[in-house]
Amino acid sequence: PRKIIIDTDPGQDDAFAILLALGSPEDLEVIGVTSVAGNVPLARTTLNAQMVLELGGRPDIPVYSGCARPMVRALFTAEYVHGDSGLDGCDLPSPTAPLGTGHGVDFIIDSLMAAEPGTITICTLGPMTNLAMAMVKQPAIVPRIAEVVLMGGGFFEGGNTTPAAEFNIFVDPHAAHVVFTAGVKLTMVPIDCTYKALMTPAWLGELRALGTRTGVQGAGMAEFYQRFGNQKFGTDRYPLHDPCVIGYLLQPALFSGRHCHVAIDLVSPLTGGMTVVDWWNVTKNPPNCTVLRELDNDAFYALMLERLARLP
Ligand code: BDR
Ligand code: CA
Repeated sequence: PRKIIIDTDPGQDDAFAILLALGSPEDLEVIGVTSVAGNVPLARTTLNAQMVLELGGRPDIPVYSGCARPMVRALFTAEYVHGDSGLDGCDLPSPTAPLGTGHGVDFIIDSLMAAEPGTITICTLGPMTNLAMAMVKQPAIVPRIAEVVLMGGGFFEGGNTTPAAEFNIFVDPHAAHVVFTAGVKLTMVPIDCTYKALMTPAWLGELRALGTRTGVQGAGMAEFYQRFGNQKFGTDRYPLHDPCVIGYLLQPALFSGRHCHVAIDLVSPLTGGMTVVDWWNVTKNPPNCTVLRELDNDAFYALMLERLARLP
């Protein structure tokens, strides 16, 4: 199996990403989870990550607490989407395992420096602060990273936090800039793609009908999160963003996109935090990122259900 570190700010959709990875041990080995401030402050994303691992029956996977704020900007959170806990709508088991010792940034650095180069993939599901800080602190990690797959950004659909910026990039655009200019193999799953990963009430019903605690609590959190979709889009369908990252690692053929140059707008008062995608290569800048735009929604949700069904 491919070794991954999940860097995350759970978040209901982050929780689904973690659970999808836990349900896929033949494909993915989660060597650790690092938490970051994002959807809610750090103390809560850290606890949430621990509780999701507990729910998935894998308290043995260590959680390392990462950065409490973005590199430059003040923290902006999203309780309005995820609820005050970040994981409203469910009742998760308390952690039985202690928090990993050491900082999340150091866990990323130490793991990459200790492993064979090209064997660890980093999945970022929140603001990219931890990975960027790791690259700044120890640049030697950059060529050792197999690939970075991130949920964030959006260009064709616009933004979900400002008219131009998606939440994860908006919260820490400087961190995104560090990663996008590092020269690492990069795949981005923007809202242009995740807005097509629509969870339906029927799927939610099937999840709950699994009757397992993962199925029941997963359905609870998904239902809470979907209520926000009803307010926003006026439909009964809502996208689960972050599990698309894991879905892509599991079955890349379900996704399509294009390798192009992407730059982060760091300065504009109107479009700061925007991922500027040069889809038509008009700048002639060398491509630095594979930008996913399409996915097979039915196959993706079938895969999720199959994998979640394996968990306790
Ligand atoms: C992203 O923002 C967060 O609210 C979600 O967890 C996801 O990572 C979507 O824009
Ligand atoms: Ca997230």
